[in-house]
Amino acid sequence: MQQQLEQTYQQALADLEHIQSSDALREWELKILGQKGAITLMLRGIGQLAKEERAAFGKRANEVRDLLATAYESRAELVQEHELARSLEEGQIDVTLPGRAHPTGGLHPSTQTFRELYRIWGDMGFQVFRSRDVETDEMNFTLLNIPEHHPARDMWDTFYTTTPGMILRTHTSPGQIRAMRELGAEGTQPIRVILPGMCYRYEQITARSEMQFHQLEGLAIGRNIRMSDLKGTVTEFARRFYGANAKVRFRASYFPFTEPSMEIDVECFLCGGQGCRVCKYAGWLEIAGAGMVHPTVLRNGGYDPTQWSGFAFGMGPERMTMLKHGIQDIRYFWSNDLRFLEQF
Ligand code: PHE
Repeated sequence: MQQQLEQTYQQALADLEHIQSSDALREWELKILGQKGAITLMLRGIGQLAKEERAAFGKRANEVRDLLATAYESRAELVQEHELARSLEEGQIDVTLPGRAHPTGGLHPSTQTFRELYRIWGDMGFQVFRSRDVETDEMNFTLLNIPEHHPARDMWDTFYTTTPGMILRTHTSPGQIRAMRELGAEGTQPIRVILPGMCYRYEQITARSEMQFHQLEGLAIGRNIRMSDLKGTVTEFARRFYGANAKVRFRASYFPFTEPSMEIDVECFLCGGQGCRVCKYAGWLEIAGAGMVHPTVLRNGGYDPTQWSGFAFGMGPERMTMLKHGIQDIRYFWSNDLRFLEQF
């Protein structure tokens, strides 16, 4: 038994030297020092020895047990250190990995166009004037020289509300009256404003027309404003928006609230006037309606038309955005499809 003890001791020490993990360490501890471990069993079997051998054996067995326990402790310390080092190494943060992209929102293409319009018109001395979406029939039509039952009302298919006389504005032009009345100081002050906003028309929705769309109205009132001012201002705007080589054309047209009235075209910048699908082979693209403010409208805004004159225009930012980006269908603008919106 004495010999067995020494053998077990040597073997256990040798095994311990090879142990690399705390799992194996625990296994070793159970096998050697545990309740049913080799040393423990030997100590318990001491009764089988001859009486005179017991004391010496017991002393040595206890010694061996303590030596092994000490060896175990120092091995355990080493193994733990290694395991910590290994886990630190494996779990190391790779600072060269690219970060995860943060999803961020973007500006709607119409918003982007509006911001550019504000910048350009702002540089040219026009201030933004906000006007309401829900309008009176009187502002939207009557005061703009479109009396009730006048056939010109058919130019705008209207959304009516349940409140008599209240409608959704069909264009931003009623803001002309509000701007003149609010900024004109009883027809004594000049005005230079742009009026952005949503407009609504009771219309069939198609690739080219929506029932809601933006307009940017422009209004200039002064003592000596002439048609050449309108033409020069719009031409300058087109150069700033579409590029220095932009060509502008004015076509005679009709609006009840301007006289004379015109439509404004820019030379198609996609084909350089040669004709293409975007300009429908005309070489020109319509960007705005405009004209000299009608005397009746000036009077309704509080101005004396013999002393004051002005010009006005209304442009369509969605159309301008479609032309700029080659968007074929206006319905994309309000259908909230991220596949469309994320392209801008
Ligand atoms: N309000 C007109 C429209 O919606 C556009 C326009 C504005 C024309 C100002 C002339 C002057 O069609």
